[in-house]
Amino acid sequence: MHSELLKGVPLFEGLSDDELHALSDVALLRVFPKDRVVIMAEEEGDSLFVIHQGQVKVSIVSEDGREVILSILGEGNFFGEMSLLDGHPRSANVTTTQETELLMVRRTDFLHFIQRSPQTAIKLLSVLASRLRKTDRKIEGLALSDVTGRITQTLLQLAEEQGSPTPDGVLIKDRPTHQDLANMSGTTRETVSRILKRLENQAYIVPRGKDLLIVGSETQQGDKIE
Ligand code: CMP
Repeated sequence: MHSELLKGVPLFEGLSDDELHALSDVALLRVFPKDRVVIMAEEEGDSLFVIHQGQVKVSIVSEDGREVILSILGEGNFFGEMSLLDGHPRSANVTTTQETELLMVRRTDFLHFIQRSPQTAIKLLSVLASRLRKTDRKIEGLALSDVTGRITQTLLQLAEEQGSPTPDGVLIKDRPTHQDLANMSGTTRETVSRILKRLENQAYIVPRGKDLLIVGSETQQGDKIE
């Protein structure tokens, strides 16, 4: 039933039609409104979620009650795999940032599936490895950069993950709110607003309604805003 949807998901790339059908038989499609908590940290978890449409943020709450955003995941991404793999409670909160359509697969079905599809297991490991790399970069950034550096790094990461190249630079559609950018960069909303204004005055960024243009950022070549 959902095999066409599954076909477009990088994790399931290269699977045969039969395999996709087998998986789609056990997948459930659900629509979540904006700002809905899909996964709550510390709860028991028994489903994997694949984003068919929309976006979620992965976050934890620091000891002093501040939200720390670990990642923003968009279409084709998945989450909820950690509890399935290690049997521990959910490691973070996952909340929709817009109306989001999710495919849900139960633990037993997914584990059964990857046992028969080493290809999917390898893709899963490769995504986990790149998430760990990103987290390593983030820790390095939090430890080393000043606040302008951290916000700039967050913008470049968003451009790399979600941006579309345009002749003028990389466009981040539906950019996170200033509060979310603050929670991704370990600072306050006021500081984000002040620094974005400065980057705008220096013509590094151009706000375009709900979108944000990062001028001259060729993220694929690894260039950085200085
Ligand atoms: P799980 O622990 O089952 O539930 C929360 C999910 O958030 C987790 O699985 C991962 O899918 C996701 N998650 C946790 N930490 C990160 C991270 N640093 N980057 C991206 N996704 C994450």
